[in-house]
Parts: sequence; structure tokens; C-alpha cells
Amino acid sequence: MKEEIVDKDLFSDSTASVVEGCRLPVRMRNTEDWPLAEVLSVKDVCNIRMFYVHYIDFNKRLDDWVSEDFLDTRKIQFPRKDGTQVGTGLSTPKKVGGTTGSSRPSSPLGVSGASDLTVNGSALLAAAIQKRNGRKRKIGDKEEPSDTPSPAPPSTPAPTTPGPRQSGSLVTHHDDVVTRMKNIQMIELGRHRIKPWYFAPYPQEMVHQACIYICEFCLKYRKSEKCLERHLMKCNLRHPPGNEIYRKQTISFFEIDGRKNKAYAQNLCLLAKLFLDHKTLYYDTDPFLFYVMTEVDSRGFHIVGYFSKEKESSEDYNVACILTLPPYQRKGYGKLLIEFSYELSKFEGKTGSPEKPLSDLGLLSYRSYWAFTICDILMNMKPSSEGERPQITINEICEMTSIKKEDVVSTLQHLNLINYYKGQYVLILNEEAMKNCIKNKEKWKLHIDPKCLHWTPKDWSKRGKW
Ligand code: ACO
Ligand code: ZN
Repeated sequence: MKEEIVDKDLFSDSTASVVEGCRLPVRMRNTEDWPLAEVLSVKDVCNIRMFYVHYIDFNKRLDDWVSEDFLDTRKIQFPRKDGTQVGTGLSTPKKVGGTTGSSRPSSPLGVSGASDLTVNGSALLAAAIQKRNGRKRKIGDKEEPSDTPSPAPPSTPAPTTPGPRQSGSLVTHHDDVVTRMKNIQMIELGRHRIKPWYFAPYPQEMVHQACIYICEFCLKYRKSEKCLERHLMKCNLRHPPGNEIYRKQTISFFEIDGRKNKAYAQNLCLLAKLFLDHKTLYYDTDPFLFYVMTEVDSRGFHIVGYFSKEKESSEDYNVACILTLPPYQRKGYGKLLIEFSYELSKFEGKTGSPEKPLSDLGLLSYRSYWAFTICDILMNMKPSSEGERPQITINEICEMTSIKKEDVVSTLQHLNLINYYKGQYVLILNEEAMKNCIKNKEKWKLHIDPKCLHWTPKDWSKRGKW
């Protein structure tokens, strides 16, 4: 105990030297772990010095504001002008292990932290939009007050790979100082209070609130409970806009056209950005369809999660972004959304794949879905005639599941069920590995029932402009 007090005093005395860009062990909230972290920002709140830290080997969603007693300054590394660290006991950490979703650049030297900048979500958006429009239009200026109908902020629906459609990105050198820090403390959505994981470009007036209040049906946001109450008196929606294309028991899916329901689509993307890292900023929701999954009760259809999908994808993507809202996570809804996306692909008679890169949690969920779906088929194969061994080709697995060939192959490789032999893939039916994979079948209770899907695919290429 005594030693702890001595240590704490020692740490506190030296925290004055802790500046942005420093790396040092920082205690993780609710644990006794002290992983290496980088200080991204420093601020004083009521005379208490607070530090915004990123844990080097962990996903950005764990980034946090901590007080000085979370810092172990004995092992501090100071930033050098060339961007490297000056060590005082610790070597530069390797970015291995952990659940790192993506690597991040270290703090640029000579650039002050976000707290000193006047840059904010709307300014950032305006800048990005101006960039796209060749500085012809200025959107940030015409922000409406938040208790008037939503100005429908530009959106961020798709993951990060720069693709042909992507006309701009939030992640530029200058913008990154701001976008890499969480800017929203809390949201209230229906009966849930949710702590955001990442930056989202909500307007400045929202960012300064302790909580943003979001209408769970139309997804418009308000800066106070009072404002939301006023909104709810006028808002008649009790389900997402668009067509209900699936219903089984309490689960429904609504299809929303990003062109026809722009405000909803944009607000959905903004909400999703709070939980999706490294999203490219899309200005335009027109090229996307949104499939929103809801759970119904006497009060209405409550959003659980969604995925977006390009109307036309030259790369066979059948999902652009996918999200289960945090209160519903780890209950099987993610796999249900994924299953639904493949069900749509089956109706289209195509194979499909999620847009890359996948997040850490996205990869876990897809791996789990692919492994289970493929092993379930392999375990239930029947021989074509008696006495023969059952046979199946990779192409047949693709046709049956609508999973794209490369994902089938990577899953089989991951499960050690495939070998490359004399220029061909050969399946190795390792029963133990397959059984292991489907052992949690009973746990996976939620499934899509194709009979409950009422949907005809559209050929968007024939429609000229969506
Ligand atoms: N830690 C460890 N494992 C996890 C976690 C977690 N935090 N969350 C989910 N998993 C595992 C589950 O255990 C499960 O594995 P199992 O089938 O072997 O038991 C698997 O991932 C899927 O779990 P579900 O309950 O079906 O999925 P969930 O409803 O939690 O949704 C999703 C998964 C959509 C990825 C969710 O975590 C999410 O919304 N994350 C934030 C947004 C995101 O990263 N989206 C994917 C981006 S990639 C893209 O958009 C194409
Ligand atoms: Zn509403």
C-alpha cells in the first residue's frame, strides 16, 4: 500500500512533462493492465489535467480520457522531431497481437491536439465537401439549428478501401488530428444510452452536449431531451422508411433506397460512423440500398442493426457496411444480418462478398458465418449413389451459399480443410475440425427463413441513373 502511494506521487510529479506524442504505460480502465499508450491530446478540466490516450496494440474504440494517476511516467518515451520516440526504458512496441483493427500514424509533431483546434465535425465536413466540389459550394455555413428538422448531414456509409466510387476521405493528414479522437460522449437512442466508439462528423453544437438525443425511428438528432420530446410529438414514424421486405416473428427487415430516403440514409450513416472506424466519407447515398433490421414491440419497430449495399457493384460486393448497435451485439444479430445479405445474393443468383477491409469484429463475424455455413454443408453431404463417397466442388459450395469463391477458399484454408495439390484445390474432410466448427449450432438460434423474404431484385444497370 505504502509503495503504491510513493509510486503515485512519483508519477504525478512528472506528468507536467507529458505532452502529445509521448508514449508510456497507461492503466486500462477497470483492469490492472498497463499497456503502452500514446498521448493524443492533453486538456485541463476544472484544474485537473486529462490525457486522451490510444493503447498501441488495441483497437481505437478503447481510446479514452484518463487522469494522471493512470499514467506511469517512469517509462515515458518522448516524441522526436522526426516522429520517432526517444526511449527511456521501453523499446518501440511492435504492432502485433491484440485486437488492432488498423494501424494509426503517430501524432504529427508540431501540430497541436484537437482541443486547441477550432476544427469540428461540421467544419471538417464542409472542408471535405468543398474539396470534392472544387470549392464551389460551402455547406458548413448553412447549418441549421438542431431543433429544426435535420439538415441531413453528409454521410459515411462505406468502408475504407479507396474504390472507384469513393470521391473523398475523412482521413487526410490534417483532418486526422481531429477524426482520430472520439467527439461524442453519449447518444440516447430509444431506450438505450450508448457510448460511441469513434469520431463521427455531427455538427459542432451537438459535439458539445453531454448526450445527443436521436429519434429511434427517423434517426434525426437533437441536442436535448426537450428538443427530442418536441420532435416526437410531430414524428409519425414507428418504423424505418422504405418497404418491409421480411418479417418473421419479431424480426423485420426494411429496404431503404438511399436516393428516395436521403435524410434517413444520411442520418443512419452518421449514426453508424460512431461505431465504424476508418470510414470513407461518402457525400452521396444515392448509389446505396440500406437494409435495416428491427425488432417489433407495442411501441414500434426498433432498429437493431443494418447493412448497406451498392446498387451496382463491379467487385461483387454484397455488403458495404454492416453494424449491430452495441446493446444488441454478441447475441447472433450480426450473423443474422450476414445471412440476410447472402439470402439476397441467392435471390439475385450471384455470389457476393463484404467490402474490404473488414474491421476486427467484422472479420470475426464473417469468419464464424462462413466456417459454420460451409462445414454444415460438408457434414451433411450425401453420396450420389450407394457405396460412393460424397463429392462436392468449391464452385458447388459457392452456388449453394452465394459466398464468393475466394472467401470459401480462405475459410477452408483457415480451418485446415484444403490443400493445393498438382495445381488443384483438394478438400480434406477432417471430421473433427468440421464438428468442432458446428458444435455451437444450437447456440446459433437466429436464422433467416427465405420463405419470409418478399423481394425481387432490381437490375439497376438498366435504370440509367438510380
Ligand atoms: N469480442 C470477441 N468476439 C466477438 C465480439 C467481441 N467484442 N463481438 C462479436 N464477436 C464474435 C461472436 O462471439 C461471434 O462468434 P461465434 O459465432 O463464434 O460465437 C461472432 O463474432 C459474431 O457474433 P454476432 O453476435 O453474430 O455478431 P454481432 O451482433 O456482435 O455483430 C458486428 C458483429 C456487426 C461486426 C458488430 O460487432 C459491429 O457492429 N461492430 C462495429 C461495426 C463493425 O466493425 N462492422 C463491421 C465492419 S466491416 C464491414 O462493414 C464490411
Ligand atoms: Zn423521428
